[in-house]
Amino acid sequence: MRISRRQACVSTLYAYSSLLLASALPGLGCGVVKKVVEPDLLTSLAFGSCNKQEMLTKHWPIIKNKNAQGWLWMGDAIYADGLYPNFREKEYQKVLADEGYQALISSSFVMGTWDDHDYAANDSGREYAEKVDTQKVFLDFIGEDKDSPRRLQKGIYTSKLMGKEANQIQFILLDMRYFKEASGPSADPLGKDQWGWLENEIKRSGPAMKVVVSSIQVLTDFTGKDTWACYPEAQTRFLNLLSTSPVPVTLLSGDRHLTETSRREVASGRIIHEVTSSGITHTTDMKNGNPFRVQVQINETNFGVLNFGWDSSAKPILQSLKSSVFSPQTGTLLRDFDIPLSWT
Ligand SMILES: [Fe+2]
Repeated sequence: MRISRRQACVSTLYAYSSLLLASALPGLGCGVVKKVVEPDLLTSLAFGSCNKQEMLTKHWPIIKNKNAQGWLWMGDAIYADGLYPNFREKEYQKVLADEGYQALISSSFVMGTWDDHDYAANDSGREYAEKVDTQKVFLDFIGEDKDSPRRLQKGIYTSKLMGKEANQIQFILLDMRYFKEASGPSADPLGKDQWGWLENEIKRSGPAMKVVVSSIQVLTDFTGKDTWACYPEAQTRFLNLLSTSPVPVTLLSGDRHLTETSRREVASGRIIHEVTSSGITHTTDMKNGNPFRVQVQINETNFGVLNFGWDSSAKPILQSLKSSVFSPQTGTLLRDFDIPLSWT
């Protein structure tokens, strides 16, 4: 683990209570995100979404106990609807000041994207006037490097190669908010620049597989909530694009305050699975149809773990991918699923 000057600052400050932190720090400027070096070979990643910062429970130690190498935010790390970015910072401080969360991010690297409630407000999109400032606040929260190109672009979409060359997993994190138009048959949730970037990232060869993270659900045809199906032309374009990947693709999504797994054939011999995991602190009674579902909806709080199985003889080859979903209240396994990696 690499200790930075920022961490030294953190160690000193961490003795203070969350209230003191929130009031003493000018925003997140001193940096309370500890940086953990990413592994040479990724074998496990925990992920989740929809975390009400006022409902801090014992879930962070339970997530940490899964011993995943990394933690992935898939949206709604906080609920801060309608707050100006400077007040939004204070809400993030409540998460950062939580002892359990600090312990997690002291042993696991962190990456992530946002959704509507940490971006601006429910179902919000490109119309949000403070999006430049809220981008900075979010990137500070997840500890994005100060010189990261992600801080210079519009929107927080990013691609990350995890692991050493030839043993890499490519993560493609979409920004489903910054450019999003109001839903409709021809509406665009990504924007021209993000589409152009995404086309290049999907084409890229070299990694063993791609994990594409969309805060909102991708494969379902359900339109009763904000999903890709509310943007039908864009959804078709997206699925067609994913089908051109040279390596297998798996989708992760959040938003729905329930968990389910979906499967869709996007081209002959090319099948994509999507694991939806939400929320960490709260859930919904809502149930809906989804013809692509392969694991029923569970309306319980949950978080997920991906386990990447490598054949370790000589040069590691990715052999398996397992998704497991756990209760953040007890750590109990809710269910798991072996995701096929066949891609012909
Ligand atoms: Fe949410």
